[in-house]
Amino acid sequence: MLIQRLQNALAPDEVNALPRGFQTLQDVVILNLKPLVWPKRKLIAQAVLDMYPYIKSVWGKVFGESKVVGQFRTPTGIEHLAGIEKSEVVAKENGVIFKHDFTKIIFSKGNITERSYLPKLVKPGEIVLDMFAGIGYFSLMIARHAAPGHVHCCEINPVSYEYLVENIRLNEVDSVVTPHFGDCAKIVPDLVKGGFAADRIVMGVFPAPKAYLSVAFQAIKHGPGTVIHYEGKVSDGDTGTLMADVEDEAKKSSLVARVTLLESRLVKNLGIRKQHGVIDVLVQ
Ligand SMILES: C[S@@+](CC[C@H](N)C(=O)[O-])C[C@H]1O[C@@H](n2cnc3c(N)ncnc32)[C@H](O)[C@@H]1O
Repeated sequence: MLIQRLQNALAPDEVNALPRGFQTLQDVVILNLKPLVWPKRKLIAQAVLDMYPYIKSVWGKVFGESKVVGQFRTPTGIEHLAGIEKSEVVAKENGVIFKHDFTKIIFSKGNITERSYLPKLVKPGEIVLDMFAGIGYFSLMIARHAAPGHVHCCEINPVSYEYLVENIRLNEVDSVVTPHFGDCAKIVPDLVKGGFAADRIVMGVFPAPKAYLSVAFQAIKHGPGTVIHYEGKVSDGDTGTLMADVEDEAKKSSLVARVTLLESRLVKNLGIRKQHGVIDVLVQ
């Protein structure tokens, strides 16, 4: 459709480079444009706006070049192209509301399988600690699709934290999820001083948060132990490097006697021979 619409306005190679589809978030479209057609981005965005009356705002990123940077995992390279300048949206995934501003906060479509799968592992009554909560990607899914005893979640980015608090309210899980603002390396020891221990700890952040494993170990349950969900970039599908991180840190810790790999899986491809991997490890 976009191709037909712009056939006479673009050169043939530009027409060929037009996107075949685009991401829609409510009444907002985000176009992934190849570098060849980037100079024509405003024209293309206006065509999208004209074609779909329910679309109010069109944004664009250069295909393969926009990045996620820094500790806050902030997206870069998203530009407003046409319509109203609206970047706050309410995404709904498996019945869970994720309000966020896509120019400030990442919401990775590629992680949907993991966000849907993780709640299936959570047993009724489990106490869950989500050390890198973001806007509630895992905490909200667990609260809505499992029956945890409680979920404590930590978030250091004030913008993400604000959305986390709002999403807890919008999803009506205030009685199950407690947000904590700040560095989990400070929050977790404070919780532990008050007698806290977790059945499951979610460490969903990139790059693999090896330096924070010693923090997570402080919250393990004596006796049955704690399942740690640990993520990172792997090569050739080999999640053994993630397990090596946990084993390394466990050896250095007086709090850990044994680590047992329960599950490993790949979430998505991250480029040539690189994948996003996850392991679940029982730490006792
Ligand atoms: C963006 S989420 C990860 C995305 C998620 N795995 C998903 O499904 O899309 C990671 C979050 O951890 C937060 N973070 C990073 N370091 C932190 C720390 N030391 N304490 C608490 N939160 C932290 C970042 O601000 C970010 O919001």
